[in-house]
Amino acid sequence: MPAKTIIEPFRIKMVEPIHATTEVERKEYIRKAHYNLFLLNSDEVLIDFLTDSGTSAMSAEQWAGMMRGDESYAGARSWHRMREEIHDLTGYPHILPTHQGRAAERILYGYLGGSGKVFISNTHFDTTRANIEFTGATAIDCPHPSNADSAKYYPFKGDLDIEAAEKVIREYGSENVGALILTVTNNSGGGQPVSMHNARAVRDLCKKYGIRFILDACRIAENAYFIHEREEEFAEHDFREIAMEMFRLADGCIMSAKKDALVNIGGFLALKDKTLAEACQNLLIITEGFTTYGGLSGRDMEAIAQGLKEVFRADYLKYRIRSTTYLGEKLKDKGVPVIWPIGGHAVYLDAGKFYSHIPPEQFPGQALAVELYIKGGIRGVEIGSVMFGKTDEQGFHPAPKELVRLAIPRRVYTQSHIDYVIEIMDDIIAEKEKARGYRIVKEPPFLRHFSAHFEPL
Ligand code: F0G
Repeated sequence: MPAKTIIEPFRIKMVEPIHATTEVERKEYIRKAHYNLFLLNSDEVLIDFLTDSGTSAMSAEQWAGMMRGDESYAGARSWHRMREEIHDLTGYPHILPTHQGRAAERILYGYLGGSGKVFISNTHFDTTRANIEFTGATAIDCPHPSNADSAKYYPFKGDLDIEAAEKVIREYGSENVGALILTVTNNSGGGQPVSMHNARAVRDLCKKYGIRFILDACRIAENAYFIHEREEEFAEHDFREIAMEMFRLADGCIMSAKKDALVNIGGFLALKDKTLAEACQNLLIITEGFTTYGGLSGRDMEAIAQGLKEVFRADYLKYRIRSTTYLGEKLKDKGVPVIWPIGGHAVYLDAGKFYSHIPPEQFPGQALAVELYIKGGIRGVEIGSVMFGKTDEQGFHPAPKELVRLAIPRRVYTQSHIDYVIEIMDDIIAEKEKARGYRIVKEPPFLRHFSAHFEPL
């Protein structure tokens, strides 16, 4: 009988020590960090699930590429290597290298945005929303209705609600829509995949109204895995072909290479339209760098070119998605409410349900994230009313859900690290009733979750 365990498809050549701390020490660290996990030092963290972004372990081939990096200011070999890889994958002729995803967002949405404009997405990621709103434009989320029930299975919970999007287009007028942004996988909506069926419907909707269709493609390889597994038409396709098919439907993409390009820094903007690309290139040169490096060094571009190849390998993607699911399934078996089914890059705990005695204005997600840290040295991130809630003259507007995201870095942790996290959850379940909420004592005007200070209630 073949072995059932899906092993890590790599062996470890270099190690980075992590430091055990005591619960007493961690209570002091988190107090000093004003109960904001972003303000902890990484040495105070044992298992870092804050993000899957820029935290990947690179392969031997990527490191070899780093040594080959051509650091010429213009027309570097490394630029051509990255450009060709991105061009082969996306089919888009105009490629603008940026230092990370949000720089590409600032350039594109800065150009397309402005007051009176509206952007529509399955769910805008926080930096996407902030870059849009910063221009004075409006960002409207149209998640698929299945997204509302976190516990109920639906194969493509990341889909865009086509009907809702069409209503927004009619309400604002198609000429005022800056772009329709399809985020794959849908990070803020639970790391849930978007079907090809939905991407095609988005393309049709955009064609009908003459609207630009932009893919936020930072986890497109993980998304392709789900399409392969869940959409019959694609059961025989390879993962890269699936991604290529999705790129063909759109007018361009933004990609934070810090996710599915398996690197620690980097990103790009790629477009079909020459006029738009030229306008963006002007902004690129002013704010990032010359067109053949943008915000990147030659060695970064080498690592991206190689990472984009490796990420589509079947053994890698199978291990990647299976190991995320493993954590999610085990926590669900313990009775922890999670977004179901488990997404690609992270497990999302439903803190609103888990701590049903803590109201949204006391941030149950923050409470659970702090508990995970104190009990196990595990750092996750709140994705709830701290991140997306707002207070104005009408009062407090909570986020649709109070979640804690445990994002799994790529190729970094082994199954025993994951088993440790699962065990820590037992302690948190045992003391569930004792948990208390938090209040914000200091916050900046944008992206407050990064730097806000909290106090336990
Ligand atoms: N779009 C999505 C869907 C993202 O998840 C991110 C980043 C970005 C854009 C911005 O890219 O960080 O390279 O500037 N997500 C990280 C996360 C930060 O933790 O989910 P960036």
